[in-house]
Order: sequence, then C-alpha cells, then structure tokens
Amino acid sequence: MHRSLAILALSSLAAASAIQYPFVESSQPETISNKPLVSSNAIQDDISSDKLLKRAKHLFKLAELAIDEYNHPTRVIGSQGHVATLDYIYATLAGLGDYYDISNQTFPAVMGNVFEYRLVLGDSSPNSTAAMSLTPPTKDKEPVFGPLVLVANEGCDSSDYPANVTGSVAFIRRGTCPFGIKSENAGRAGAIAAVVYNNGKGGLSGTLGQPSKDHVATFGISDTDAKPYIEKLQAGEVIESSAYIDAIVESIGTTNIVAQTKGGDPDNCVMLGGHSDSVTEGPGINDDGTGSLTLLEIATQLVKYSVNNCVRFAWWAGEEEGLLGSDYYVSQLSDEENMKIRLFMDYDMLASPNYAYQVYNASNAVNPVGSQELRDLYTEYYTVHGQNYTYIAFDGRSDYDGFIRNGIPGGGIATGAEGIKTRKEAEMFGGTEGEWFDHCYHQLCDTVDNLNMEAWELNAKLVAHSVATYAVSFKGFPERTAVKHNVLSEKSLYHGSKLIM
Ligand SMILES: *[C@@H]1O[C@H](CO)[C@@H](O)[C@H](O)[C@H]1NC(C)=O
Ligand SMILES: *[C@@H]1O[C@H](CO)[C@@H](O)[C@H](O)[C@H]1NC(C)=O
Ligand SMILES: *[C@@H]1O[C@H](CO)[C@@H](O)[C@H](O)[C@H]1NC(C)=O
Ligand SMILES: *[C@@H]1O[C@H](CO)[C@@H](O)[C@H](O)[C@H]1NC(C)=O
Ligand SMILES: *[C@@H]1O[C@H](CO)[C@@H](O)[C@H](O)[C@H]1NC(C)=O
Ligand SMILES: [Zn+2]
Repeated sequence: MHRSLAILALSSLAAASAIQYPFVESSQPETISNKPLVSSNAIQDDISSDKLLKRAKHLFKLAELAIDEYNHPTRVIGSQGHVATLDYIYATLAGLGDYYDISNQTFPAVMGNVFEYRLVLGDSSPNSTAAMSLTPPTKDKEPVFGPLVLVANEGCDSSDYPANVTGSVAFIRRGTCPFGIKSENAGRAGAIAAVVYNNGKGGLSGTLGQPSKDHVATFGISDTDAKPYIEKLQAGEVIESSAYIDAIVESIGTTNIVAQTKGGDPDNCVMLGGHSDSVTEGPGINDDGTGSLTLLEIATQLVKYSVNNCVRFAWWAGEEEGLLGSDYYVSQLSDEENMKIRLFMDYDMLASPNYAYQVYNASNAVNPVGSQELRDLYTEYYTVHGQNYTYIAFDGRSDYDGFIRNGIPGGGIATGAEGIKTRKEAEMFGGTEGEWFDHCYHQLCDTVDNLNMEAWELNAKLVAHSVATYAVSFKGFPERTAVKHNVLSEKSLYHGSKLIM
C-alpha cells in the first residue's frame, strides 16, 4: 500500500517538475529525491564503532551455528554459519524498504576440506609437509605406496614426466605453471600422488584451484626439505615413499548478494564489495566480517539520503576458495553492464589487531585508468586525518582482481593479514613490531576479540567517505576506458589468499 501511494505521488511530481523545470530530469523516485543529497561528512557521522561492534557480535553468533558440523565456529561456504550470514545480510537489506534493488546471484562453487595427511619419503617425513587446498584424497582415502620419481623441468609439460612415474610419487619443482597443472599432469602420467617442492625459501602451501578429474593427491614441501632427496634421486637412489590424504572436494551452490540504489544514474555506478564467507578454520570476524558489516552499516545509513550516481554493494561468496563469487559476477557482465561500473572498491580486513593503514598500490600505468585516483582518495583521507599509511601490493589477493582484469578501475584498503609489522610500521601505527598484523588470520581465534575498534571505525568512515564522494559526483574521475577480457597484467602468484603457483 505504501508503495503504490509512492508511485502515484511520483507521477504527479514528475508532471509538476516537467512544467517548472523542463531541462532538469530526475530519474529518482520521489521518496528518494526528497531526501537530502548524501554528503561525506553526514554519512561519516552516522558511523560509530558501537554499531559496528554490535553487528560483529551478532555475526559471531551466526558462525557458531556451524559448530554441529565443524566442531567450531566458521562461516565457510556451505556451512550453516555462511547460510545464516547470507540470510542476515539479505534480511537487513530487505528491511530497508524499497531503497535498493536486491538480487541473489547463485553460482557453482567448489569447496574442499583436508581432514588428515601424511607423507613419508624414505625413512622420514619432511616436517614442512602441507597438503594443497582442493587436493583430492589418495585412492580410497588410504595410504598409497611407491617410489619417489623426479620430474624434469617444472612438470608443466607432459613430456617432463618419465614413464616410470606411473605408480610412483611425482616429485616436481615449483614454478612456471600453477600447482593445479602439475597435479593434473602427474595424474595423467599415472602418478599415485605428487609432491611440489619450493624453488624459493620456506615451506609451500597453496591451492590446486579449479578441480580436475586428473588431479592427484598433492603436497607441498620446502626447498631445504627437498634438497637431500633431489641429490639422492640424481645419484640414482630409490626412495620408497608413502602418501596419505583424507580430503573431500565437492561442488555446491553459493550466493553473491548485490544491492543497488534505485536512485542515482544507473549508467554510472560506484561499486564496492566485501566477502561474506570465512575460511573453514574459524569464524572470520576480521576476515571479512569487518568488510561485510561495514558495507551493511553504510547501506543502512545511506537510505536517509539521495544519490546522484548509483551505488552498488556486493557481498561475495567463495572468496576464500579463490575469489569465486567476484570472478563469477564479473564474468556474467555484458560489455554494456561492465561499462556502467565506474570503479570497484574492495574492503577486506579493516580491523586487524596489530593494524597498519594499508592502501593498495594501484597505478594507472599498469591498472585500468582511475585506479590511481581512487588510491589517492584513500591516501588523502589518511593524511587529512593525521594518520600514516603504507602502500601494499595490488597483486590479486582479493576480490578486486576480476574487476581490474576486465578493465574496471579498482582499489581498496586493508589493515594487514599474515605480514609482519616492521619497526618502521610500529612507529607509524603503534602495535607490536615483529608480529603479524593479524595473528589470528585464517584461524579459530578470528573472533570479536580480534578486532581493533579504533582502526575499524576510522576505516568504516573512510569507506563511507568513498561511497559519498562518488555517489555525489565523478567530476575529475577518469571516464571508463574500454572493457577488457580477463587480461593479466603480469603473471600473478595469487588469485585469492592462496598461492596458485
Ligand atoms: C536470497 O538469498 C538469501 C540468502 O540465502 C535468502 O535469505 C533470501 O530469501 C533470498 N531471496 C530470494 C528472493 O531468493
Ligand atoms: C624442520 O626441521 C628442521 C631441522 O631438521 C628445523 O630447522 C626446522 O625448524 C623444522 N621446521 C618446522 C616447521 O618444524
Ligand atoms: C625412473 O626413470 C628415470 C629415468 O627416466 C630414472 O633416472 C629413475 O631412477 C627411475 N626411478 C625409479 C624409481 O625407477
Ligand atoms: C607502487 O607502484 C609503483 C608503480 O607500479 C611503483 O613504482 C612503486 O615502487 C610502488 N610503491 C610501493 C611502496 O610499493
Ligand atoms: C606517523 O609516523 C611517524 C614516524 O614515521 C610517527 O612519529 C608519528 O607519530 C605517526 N603518526 C601517528 C598518528 O601515529
Ligand atoms: Zn578476506
């Protein structure tokens, strides 16, 4: 009833304004255009750490719904914790009246879970052994036995695999191609398992990415652990091995939620996103509860205002499995729809306990034009607020990747994951030198206690500022350049949080 009244009122208003202001055309429903135009200061004032914290506490309760199945709180895709998160986001948006067009975009996703693994090479078990994410189990989820066989080059070509890899454990050097390709090649060559050893320093854990029927159970080990084995194999020694992985890889459907203002120019949208899912290991309150909830709070406050440009919020699913939701979303855009997105802003991890104010170092030289102007909006904000900031690599680790690969300017801010705070950064931001920015990154302890509320509040205000700035005007912001199709500006080691090669 409310709704039909509003539509009636709108048509009379449109008629009236057509008479009085023939050159002014409003595309906004009356209920929206009667509201004051959003301003950065006004919407920043609407943000408070109390409201954010309240949402975070609620989100943790939702993560606890997964305990039955996972024995601990998590919001990983497919879990009750994630389903409840999506319901919460959707219901909150739906409760805001008719300000937004809300849509669900369901897409196929894969999820994996490694329960147990063991690798024995000769008479010892390399202590750096890690099972790759999305690895299949060994045959029948039982240990398999065979000699270790060194693969030539980097195992990216089927000719790198000697005939006796059949029935053996393939031993493959990291590099040149993704882990998924190596595992597939090993499987096609008849290997019973594969071990990828690091070509750089340290242990090796990554993901096989998109499952393939040819993948075999795949591990990563460090360069130092690998060295003695390589030497023995090169000397012609036989190293009897056993490999065991109990894991599942399964396909499920999961959902991106997108909400777009009904008001504002629909051909010029400012888009922003955070991911609704967590890793299996924990509840993901910082990663990325903080981003998702910041968006939800801003979407809630924005309804008090009108906008000149359309604002589109997205909550991605499957980010932790390799940016599945954002990739899917961008892949489904027609060229015409792609061009309507003037920029994409990624908000992932805004309240790390040992935070730094990090700005993605996007540049117009290597990223779609406009990325640098967005970067400068963030750095100016920190400067105006008397805060320090650092640039961090814009290297494909979060949901901006699909956008910039397809010609859409992008950027974002973060507060740090498993990186270690340097002395200089401790001077710039306080906190503890020599420790991770987020010591609970991708772990069970990523709870409400894992948040730095001061950092979250300032960053949430900055997100509000970014929305308001572009919702009012794109003046001075570069016009969109052409659509691209999945270009990689350079060979990236990441697509999501996990190493892919
Ligand atoms: C969209 O998805 C959410 C989360 O799964 C759900 O709560 C809501 O009912 C769905 N809405 C529609 C229209 O399908
Ligand atoms: C693995 O063992 C080596 C010595 O054999 C040791 O230096 C290294 O710290 C160990 N690494 C881990 C992760 O335990
Ligand atoms: C497998 O074949 C290669 C030569 O192609 C050889 O060097 C290696 O010793 C063989 N390994 C085993 C376990 O037979
Ligand atoms: C930022 O990116 C530019 C150009 O891509 C590069 O020259 C510069 O060194 C980077 N700065 C930092 C601090 O990473
Ligand atoms: C910014 O960093 C400098 C050191 O480079 C430090 O002296 C200053 O206190 C920092 N500012 C804030 C607001 O933390
Ligand atoms: Zn994240």
